[in-house]
Amino acid sequence: MSEFDQPQLTVLFEAERIQARIRELGARITEDYAGRSPVLVIVLKGAVPFGADLLRSIDLPVTLDFIAVSSYGASTQSSGEVRLLKDLDASLKGQDVIIVEDIVDTGLTLAYLLDMFHRREAASVRVAALLDKPERRRRAVEVSYIGFTIPNEFVVGFGLDYAERYRNLPYVAILDPARQAGSPERTPGIPMSGPGFSPRQAPVG
Ligand code: PRP
Repeated sequence: MSEFDQPQLTVLFEAERIQARIRELGARITEDYAGRSPVLVIVLKGAVPFGADLLRSIDLPVTLDFIAVSSYGASTQSSGEVRLLKDLDASLKGQDVIIVEDIVDTGLTLAYLLDMFHRREAASVRVAALLDKPERRRRAVEVSYIGFTIPNEFVVGFGLDYAERYRNLPYVAILDPARQAGSPERTPGIPMSGPGFSPRQAPVG
């Protein structure tokens, strides 16, 4: 069966639409940062496809860095605790930083990164996110460049995963495991809880 065409996936944003939107965001960033050399900080792993395309649509001498953060499992939902898994390679002091995210959900990850980058004395910090899910917000964060605002659905594709799967979809889709052929309850082989399951996007009960 094709990984890109499955019954549990309902396309929300087609590949062409995403690419067109990213070009628009890139043009805006090019204009806003004229004469400057911002550093794009791509937040691993989900922001990799968005970051790769956004980077190539910015007509400026940008530099690139990567950071990885994670939560302490479900506790993050209540405590807002975020853990640094991989730090940046370079200092941000005096830099114009653009944080690149695939999705802003509760805002806890971004709040952590914004605070850390300001403490590191970045000259400026803005955020570019492919998707914004404002209904889930728990921390107010300003997102300067938003691709699409989405409802409170579990979405996958274009970097977003479900138990590490579907990141390679060239489009964004709503995942409905109940629509998996032959399985009314769940997607076979994909845990609904436990270490492989990311609770980040799970609808609030
Ligand atoms: C996702 C996403 C953001 C964060 C957003 O990352 O990439 O970094 O969650 O959620 P928040 O607004 O509720 O903090 P995740 O921890 O799932 O890691 P991944 O990018 O490696 O999939």
